[in-house]
Parts: sequence; structure tokens; C-alpha cells
Amino acid sequence: MDVEQTIPALRERLQRWRDSKSRIALVPTMGNLHAGHLALVERARELADRVVVTIFVNPTQFGAGEDFSSYPRTLQRDRALLERAGTDLLFTPEVETLYPGGTEETTYVEVPGLSDLLCGASRPGHFRGVATVVSKLFLTVQPDVALFGEKDYQQLLIIRRMVRDLCFPIEIVGVPTVRDADGLALSSRNGYLTPEQRRKASRLYHSLVRCKERIRAGERDYALLTTRAMEELRDAGFQPDYFEIRRAADLAEPGSGDHHLVILAAARLGEARLIDNITLSL
Ligand code: PAJ
Repeated sequence: MDVEQTIPALRERLQRWRDSKSRIALVPTMGNLHAGHLALVERARELADRVVVTIFVNPTQFGAGEDFSSYPRTLQRDRALLERAGTDLLFTPEVETLYPGGTEETTYVEVPGLSDLLCGASRPGHFRGVATVVSKLFLTVQPDVALFGEKDYQQLLIIRRMVRDLCFPIEIVGVPTVRDADGLALSSRNGYLTPEQRRKASRLYHSLVRCKERIRAGERDYALLTTRAMEELRDAGFQPDYFEIRRAADLAEPGSGDHHLVILAAARLGEARLIDNITLSL
């Protein structure tokens, strides 16, 4: 596996693969890798000849008071995992490389509407930072295909819309959420949980599953279902941010004619902000 830190070195590597007509996949990450990230790499290997992974803790997607400086950085371990997973090239740029003019007054990519709901409402500017850095990675790597986890469902929809709106010639592939044995979605932020919180944490997923079962059983009062779920989470010691039933295609409030839904939740448990979702078709 090659490891590059600068754009010219990255481009030189990529050019050779492009000359030989190799299909190139991109997996953007912020590192501290787990089996969820590695599932993206595995799928990438099935879809392309060459797999490029990026590790970059993107400052512009963290709000003031969020965990940018304490976000776990475990590059040595990540490198070994990626090497074993069959990654061809790892790109680990410095902040100055992707933000040559700094992060204060810089050019941003904004996906309106979708970026303002749910996680966007509680983390203003977060998805602007995500759309901006993913655009930079798309432009520097110019992959044929890029893979993102369904765990970050809203992020995946925003990237699909950005690719459509900016005519990026890149196929976007979503990969199902990888979970621990008790159902908790794997996340770099799970490391913030104490052992006791970790034992509780899978209740977030189980509240989604229960809600899905209630809808399947015929309950249609979505407002009541979500209020009840929020209460259950509070009783379990979470500070829920939202619990919502939305239209899977665009996160709008579902009407009676909508059959493809997604249930999404975000809740704080101690130091960790956990998010999860499940889809259902009626
Ligand atoms: P990060 O949280 O490191 O996640 C990188 C990718 O891994 C994302 O596409 C995310 O959805 C996926 N992922 C995380 N946990 C997963 C799980 N349990 N199962 C399946 N996929 C999972 O998301 C980001 O970084 C950043 O916002 C990024 C897109 C890299 C832009 O900075």
C-alpha cells in the first residue's frame, strides 16, 4: 500500500492507474477505523480495480465546542488495517493541503434544504463542511465510484444530491451499517462511552427496531410513536436529540402514500453523540 500526503504525489500515482484504464474507488474516512469502514473497503474492492482510502479529520465539519481536537487519531493502527484489507493507496493530507487558504474565509459547497434538518439542525454548518471536503476529495482523486455508509444516512443523501447538482461523474454506493453483536452501530465515537454506558448504548438501535415493528403492526400515528420513543430513550439515560420517521428518498415528513420510510435517531449518552437509522418498506 502506498501512502501519500500531498496532492502532486497522489496525482502521479493515480495517473498510472488511469493510463492503464483501471477503475478507481474512493473511500473517504476520518480514521480510527473499525469494521464498518473496512466493509466499505471490501465493497470497493469488488467494484473497482484500485482502492483509494483517505484519512482526514476535517476541521470544517466540527462545530465550536465539538470534538475536533480530541477526535481519536490512530494512524499507525489504521495503516495496518487498511494494508490487510487490500487498500492500494492511502491519502493522509494535512489541513493546509486541503485548505490552502485556511478554514476561516474559504470557498464552501452547500447543499440547501437537506443539510438543515435532523443532524444539520443540531450541528449548524456540519454538512457544509462535509460537502466541501468530499468535493475536494472528489476533485483531487477523481474516482469512478465512491462509497459511503448508510449509518450516516443523511450524509449519504446529501452527497448523492451534491453529485447530481454539481454533475460529478462519480457513482455513489451506499453500504449497509455494520453493528456489534448487541446491535450498536460501530462508530469511532463509541470509544467515548464508559463500560456502563456501552452496555446501555444498543438501546438506541433497539428503540428503532421497536418503532419499525409497531409500524409494521399497523400503527400509523407517527407523532405518537416518536414521542414515545423519545421518552423511552430518556428513561434509559440518553439525552435524545431527535427520533424521526421520514420519507427514505428525501427525509421529508411522510404522507399516507409514502411506502419507503427511514427511522432516524440521534442521542447523547455521556460524552458520545450516537446516531443510527433503519429503513422500512410498507
Ligand atoms: P467517518 O465517520 O470516519 O466515516 C467514514 C465512512 O464510514 C462514512 O461513509 C460512514 O458512513 C462509514 N461508516 C461509519 N460507521 C459505519 C458502520 N458502522 N457501518 C458502515 N459504514 C460506516 O463520515 C465521515 O467519516 C466524514 O463525514 C467524511 C465522509 C469522511 C467526510 O469528512
